[in-house]
Amino acid sequence: CGPSPVPAFFTDEARQLPVAEPDAPGHYTLTARLGRHSFHSEWPAVPTLGYHAPGAPVQYLGPTIATERGKPIDVTVVNGLPPAGTPIFPFDQPDNDNNITAHRHGGLQLPASDGVPDPIQPVIPPGGSKTNHYPNAQAAAPLWYHDHDHHNTSYHVYEGLAGFIPNTDETEAALPLPKGDFAKQYAIQDKKFNADGSLCYSHADPEFLGDLPVVNGTVAPKQTVEPRRYAFTLLNASDTRSYRLSLRQTDGRSADRPAMTVVGNDSGYLWRSAPVDELLIAPAERYVVVVDFTGHEGQNWVLANNATAVLGAMNDVDPSGGGISQLMRFDVGAGVSSPDRSSVPAVLVEDAAPVSALVDGARLRTVQAAEVVDGHPQLGDRDRLYKYLDPVTETPQLGSAEVWAMRNRSPDAHPIHVHEAAFRLIGRWRVGQWDSDGLPVPGTIGAFEPARAYESGPKETFVSPPGYITAWVGRFTIPGTSVWHCHILSHEDGEMMRPLAVGDAPQ
Ligand code: C2O
Ligand code: CU
Repeated sequence: CGPSPVPAFFTDEARQLPVAEPDAPGHYTLTARLGRHSFHSEWPAVPTLGYHAPGAPVQYLGPTIATERGKPIDVTVVNGLPPAGTPIFPFDQPDNDNNITAHRHGGLQLPASDGVPDPIQPVIPPGGSKTNHYPNAQAAAPLWYHDHDHHNTSYHVYEGLAGFIPNTDETEAALPLPKGDFAKQYAIQDKKFNADGSLCYSHADPEFLGDLPVVNGTVAPKQTVEPRRYAFTLLNASDTRSYRLSLRQTDGRSADRPAMTVVGNDSGYLWRSAPVDELLIAPAERYVVVVDFTGHEGQNWVLANNATAVLGAMNDVDPSGGGISQLMRFDVGAGVSSPDRSSVPAVLVEDAAPVSALVDGARLRTVQAAEVVDGHPQLGDRDRLYKYLDPVTETPQLGSAEVWAMRNRSPDAHPIHVHEAAFRLIGRWRVGQWDSDGLPVPGTIGAFEPARAYESGPKETFVSPPGYITAWVGRFTIPGTSVWHCHILSHEDGEMMRPLAVGDAPQ
């Protein structure tokens, strides 16, 4: 791909994805199809993928499925893609059979309904379908869904196979946070485009970085807002890129910016709300952020990105040659359509599973990320590739709590995602030097860096910086085999994934 053509920024209004209606009580149908979508009003419609639901036609990405705690649903996923052997996009891998899955990321469902890749679970071939059952026994959380067909996940998601599936509950309903029109969801991606506005993607590097920001399928949109509080769910649905987000004016000034408060992350609400000036979001992470535009009548505020050093190599080196410094712009209007009665409580939810209680008696499991072949990082205790037939090494006992300590000996930061459980991030330790067994050299371990306030809620995706041990704790309550992996989608497709077998035997 060459550099993308650059259309006018902040001219197209940001869109919200349509909300899917059930086609029978408790039942939804999602059909993955080839469609046409225009990423900018200056550009024509180009081929894209989307998950379609009856009544919610989506050409790119998928409709939002709103679920409720205590109300299980079934989702039938239909593969409406062209038959195997018919490449859809010029950059599809030759071994792509147009198979798909739909994984509900962060969902607590049995592996058979988890959409995990082949060969752990069968994938859905063109013309086929599969019904997944979601018990929705879990707390309110900004979950999402996406394709997980191994080796093809990265560009399937890039082509559009992803959507929101937030779960709500009574606790959330009782919170005085902004709701309805004043709660919005944004899927943030970086992309590359050809001169005609069509998608370009490259498999040349172990990572993929785009050079234009895309929010819910629109390049650098604007969002018209009222001078009041909004709750924004931010999803990083990018292949590789992390963002460190803040609000700035177009010229970069940040004085007197609207207050931002993180209230939720991946798998639920924070115990205490966390005011932030900036927010690091890695692929697959979600943050629910309340932004208060009160008093900012007539101003424009850019959602800006300056991710660099925090993550080490991941964003310092941008092989595309172009960074992404601006994602979208909030244009604040002159008045409110109704009084803003929302507020942001200091304490949001009861801390049902404090880290200290989880850690007490938990088993310690050490895992690692290490560079193995040609810059392709791998996971696990023994540098194994993702092959289900390799002996499984991550085998927690059902019902047990484990602390996972991730030693990252590779040059990249990796957002590590573990299926089938919600965890809490404990924190990180910088390691000065690793010995030949990949263990920290005594005396070179830095001071404990606790989880940032905004990443202290229930989570399943953890930024694991290079040269660090990153530790999280959680309880495994769902039996069976799924996966854990890096959520840099190119890394995941490059085998940076391992089976996770939760069973009866203590191991
Ligand atoms: Cu977002 Cu294994 O997934
Ligand atoms: Cu990675």
